[in-house]
Amino acid sequence: MIATTALELRAGARLLVSGVNVRINNGDRIGFVGRNGAGKSTLAKVLAGETLPAGGGVQRTGKIGYLPQDPRTGEDQGTALDRILSARDLDQIAARMTQVEHEMATTEGAELEKALDRYTRVDAEFTAAGGYGATSEAEAIATSLGVSEAVFNNQLDTLSGGQRRRIELARILFSGAETLLLDEPTNHLDADSIMWLRNYLMNYSGGLVIISHDVNLIETVVNKVFYIDGNRNVIDVYNLGWKQYLLQREQDEHRRKKERANAEKKAEILQKQGEKMRAKASKATAAQGMLRRAEKLRSSLEDVRVKDKVAKLRFPTPAPCGKTPLSGEELSKNYGSLEIFTDVSCVIDKGSRVVILGLNGAGKTTLLKILANQLESDTGKVEHGHGLKLGYYAQEHEMLDFERTILENMMSSKDDLREPEARNVLGSFLFVGDDVHKPVKVLSGGERTRLALATLVVSAANVLLLDEPTNNLDPASREEILGALAEYQGAVIMVSHDEGAVQALKPERVILLPDGDEDIWKDEYFDLISID
Ligand SMILES: Nc1ncnc2c1ncn2[C@@H]1O[C@H](COP(=O)(O)OP(=O)(O)OP(=O)(O)O)[C@@H](O)[C@H]1O
Ligand SMILES: [Mg+2]
Repeated sequence: MIATTALELRAGARLLVSGVNVRINNGDRIGFVGRNGAGKSTLAKVLAGETLPAGGGVQRTGKIGYLPQDPRTGEDQGTALDRILSARDLDQIAARMTQVEHEMATTEGAELEKALDRYTRVDAEFTAAGGYGATSEAEAIATSLGVSEAVFNNQLDTLSGGQRRRIELARILFSGAETLLLDEPTNHLDADSIMWLRNYLMNYSGGLVIISHDVNLIETVVNKVFYIDGNRNVIDVYNLGWKQYLLQREQDEHRRKKERANAEKKAEILQKQGEKMRAKASKATAAQGMLRRAEKLRSSLEDVRVKDKVAKLRFPTPAPCGKTPLSGEELSKNYGSLEIFTDVSCVIDKGSRVVILGLNGAGKTTLLKILANQLESDTGKVEHGHGLKLGYYAQEHEMLDFERTILENMMSSKDDLREPEARNVLGSFLFVGDDVHKPVKVLSGGERTRLALATLVVSAANVLLLDEPTNNLDPASREEILGALAEYQGAVIMVSHDEGAVQALKPERVILLPDGDEDIWKDEYFDLISID
């Protein structure tokens, strides 16, 4: 159970929400929703006890399993499997058991009696923690989340961001926590794993908080919704399933719009009246008060209007290039003894649209990285055609410099970019005013995605390599990005488990990994993206 009293959250000096009194009980499956940057992750972190709130308190009972949105967190020593097992302290209990076994074998009389007693206790503890079945249980969870067995005994610091995150998620599910706080758990998962996770969470008997841009997951799993309203700085609690929540929310929005229209009218009347009365000396003070109130009403309305805006996006016309700007020939990649793919060839023609499909670990991200020159192929070569300008969007945003500011990142994304132009593009991606001086490391997941896309936009690229570009985006921003993508004239090679994103791209061809077979796009391939 987690409960808050008069909780207040801030981002730097900015107020996110205040006066939050909520409870998360067993059986609650709660979806946290709200715009990118509204404070969902901040709230989850505070509930988990990883940071202190700006005000108010949090009470917790029972074990909590928290999966942060950023995969670059957590322990990185030891093997993958040990990391999962450590969630139930199984490694420690096993060590104590060995110790007692040794005592039983070497002592006599009263000492032996004591050792036997102790053994019974440790054995019960071991059984309670899952006992001998635990390892296979841990392995089963990891496998279901798309971690291949070959990875179990690898050191954590050799794993990719995606694998690392799946291990963390497996660890949390294995931990037997009473309350789960999962921040974007489907990032890095393939369709099969998502389906498995969905079933798992639907049947979860403890308390569950889930933050996800995957509407499908939210829709099937949650029975309550907490809406974080960045305009009003409150959390609206809906004790409803997703569909009813949407209806209720629409009604609430409608009502608020009406209230706003009324407020506007009121402001107008106050303003007119105030101006009329100002002329009379005896009523000057009252007039002043009216004008001030009108002003106040207006400015609060203005805030809402500015914040509700969604970036209106267009990727610029791509720079001219030859017929085949990019091609790869006989590419392959091994990590140690693990073969990812061999002999993959592809030809990317000007303006063509290609989707890369394949299960987790089939090497989709790896292939994109090779094409983007971020990684060397073990064999073959990548050829750049005449006039090629590459734009690479990395799943983990590793193209961004986390220590530098938004504006600095933007400025370094193109050689001759001038500050006014950089600010202009940033503005259309909703980074305005002092925002641009925020370092990337404090940005929310969706804000990082927006920034990474903004750096692509200024580059006039004619080939875009996009790795899960819609992860973390709120629905409105996602629509905007997909609209821009649909109209983009250059070539696009995309990896995505978001069916809508693939639909918007209108792909012509598909590359299937790990075999590297190429095919004309057929609608049957949608089944491979997300299986329902
Ligand atoms: N130290 C800081 N200084 C200034 N702003 C900050 C700081 N830390 C976080 N923020 C801002 O706090 C806001 C809330 O971030 P949070 O990660 O909670 O959002 P979110 O709702 O999870 O968004 P998303 O859907 O994009 O993941 C963001 O606008 C972020 O830029
Ligand atoms: Mg977040």
